[in-house]
Amino acid sequence: MVTDQGLRGIFPPSPETVESAIVNNRDVLARMADQDLQRFWEDQAKEFVWFEPWTKVLDESNPPFYKWFVGGVTNIVYNCLDRHVQSWRRNKLALIWESESGEQRTFSYHALSREVCMFANVLRSMGVRKGDRVTIYMGRIPELPIAMLACAKIGAVHSVVYGGFSVEALHGRIEDSRSNVVITCDGSFMNGKIVELKAIVDEALKRCATVEHVIVVKRTGQPVVMENGRDYWYTELMNLPIARTASGASRCETEEMDAEDPLFMLYTSGTTGKPKAILHTHGGYMVGVATTLKWVFDIKEEDRYWCTADPGWITGHSYIVYGPLLLGTTSFMYEGAPTYPYPNRWWSLIEKYGINIFYTAPTAIRGLMRFGEAWPNRHDLSSLRLLGSVGEPINPEAWRWYYEVIGKSRCPIMDTWWQTETGMFMITPMPETPLKPGSASKPFPGIEAQVVDENGKAVAAGEEGYLVLKRPWPAMLRTIYNDPDRYVNQYWARFPGMYFTGDSARRDEDGYFWIIGRVDDVIKVSGYRLGTAEIESALVSHPTVAEAAAIGLPHDIKGNAIYAYVILRSGVEPYEGLPDELRAHVGHEMGPIARPEKITIVNQLPKTRSGKIMRRVLKARAQDLPEGDLTTLEE
Ligand code: WT7
Repeated sequence: MVTDQGLRGIFPPSPETVESAIVNNRDVLARMADQDLQRFWEDQAKEFVWFEPWTKVLDESNPPFYKWFVGGVTNIVYNCLDRHVQSWRRNKLALIWESESGEQRTFSYHALSREVCMFANVLRSMGVRKGDRVTIYMGRIPELPIAMLACAKIGAVHSVVYGGFSVEALHGRIEDSRSNVVITCDGSFMNGKIVELKAIVDEALKRCATVEHVIVVKRTGQPVVMENGRDYWYTELMNLPIARTASGASRCETEEMDAEDPLFMLYTSGTTGKPKAILHTHGGYMVGVATTLKWVFDIKEEDRYWCTADPGWITGHSYIVYGPLLLGTTSFMYEGAPTYPYPNRWWSLIEKYGINIFYTAPTAIRGLMRFGEAWPNRHDLSSLRLLGSVGEPINPEAWRWYYEVIGKSRCPIMDTWWQTETGMFMITPMPETPLKPGSASKPFPGIEAQVVDENGKAVAAGEEGYLVLKRPWPAMLRTIYNDPDRYVNQYWARFPGMYFTGDSARRDEDGYFWIIGRVDDVIKVSGYRLGTAEIESALVSHPTVAEAAAIGLPHDIKGNAIYAYVILRSGVEPYEGLPDELRAHVGHEMGPIARPEKITIVNQLPKTRSGKIMRRVLKARAQDLPEGDLTTLEE
């Protein structure tokens, strides 16, 4: 895939778009934020219910451990549910869900809140307390956001593990988070097939003994093993008196949380094999996520909004669960694959539910594009007003198809750049922003982004460099759970006083940012973030493998695909089918998304004299490109 700037030119928004947009003075807002950052965010924070007001908006006394809304007391769930239930929104739809097989469930704000209350009571009665960690590993069904909200409501810290991950990825995340409770499903449906989530949990728990309770939602009905005294069915618990108050009401008191109390942790891949748990909080995250969603996706009371991500990733946390509920929005969620049973499924859902705002990823666009325009053209997509993109740079061909075939050249595309760590959009258009296809345009008001060289000095317009962020923002990660040193070293040490994103970028003469890609050992596969080290350690856990190296190479649909090179243990002879066996092994340990495209058995890997694998050399060789500076290579 070539992400050149092939589609030149500027696509200005229509006058109607600008006129009706919530924000049509972006530059004014940016100037206000520049003049007084704290006042700017304070104004946004006033949109929410706080049990106690903050005494200080931003505490910068101990960088990079910033604190927002110091002294403030709130709970994000109070603002997502409780306050809406006390208003006319009580009967407004919060969530519309459709299963892969076409079954539908809907939740009003009242119904969603009731379910969350009852499940929160269940968790409390099982001994889950403020600050405890709970791992959630489920398919894309309503009980996933319900479980997240129930945890947050009682002050527990959720750690959602994407349902596409597998045994070792799950085990590592449960163990690192020290969760006592795991919430899962018997299985989930994807592409007409069952993913055996409960069986994967069982296998993961054999490798760690800290988990006391497993709560299982019945989704597929396939037989699963339920361990006596450890495993409970969700529905059975919800039918017990423990799901209600002493007087039998389906209510639950929302825990009062300090603004800086942790809301969730979410594991993401970095440069070492150990995934890091990014920690987000109740107060700042709430303010950052809601403000960005409202202004960028221009969410009005009557809108129907669909973000196709999985709640198991940050996009789902911020812009499926918390953001939309904070704004009192009606969201749509779909369980399954975009091509099930045919490649028109998404387009048919847009038509069926009258979706106004549609947010997806370039890899999905590229994947659906190859089936041709006839599929979307069978559907009336005229309800759409705004489109969005996230996860990787969107290439010109995909941008044009999305813009013309899906948006009928009427709907601006919000190409939002952000990260698990940032929690919220950082560089993004707004409906009023003239678009340059492939560019995420400009920093959100209050965000200061810059492209710098090795020494942290700003480079000239048009030149490539490292993307950094120079001022704190409310939804920023607060630390890496249990590893503050790694937080400092990973993000704040390379360029003192600046947050290093791990991305390279260019800024053009108009101040538009063009993201190029990761400069660390992170591979973006179909927009999913995977660490080379995690894939390598999965390979090395196979009895035949001594050493492994994984790299990403360009791929038409996935953006990047994983290629791995392995050295076998001495005495092991390569045999027919071994590479496939190794691919399957990575799939079993990490999950299908991490399964390498191709595995090559080699006798040697290019290494530095200090023994570090030179992945860039492997990458260059695989693509027949110049190998660059080889002075440190030992071969
Ligand atoms: C990395 C963060 C944030 C939600 C999903 C990804 C890449 C993300 C864009 C975009 C170009 C993008 C970056 C970033 N990325 N959005 N609009 N244009 N690149 O979250 O898994 O933490 O990955 O995704 O490389 O650093 P994540």
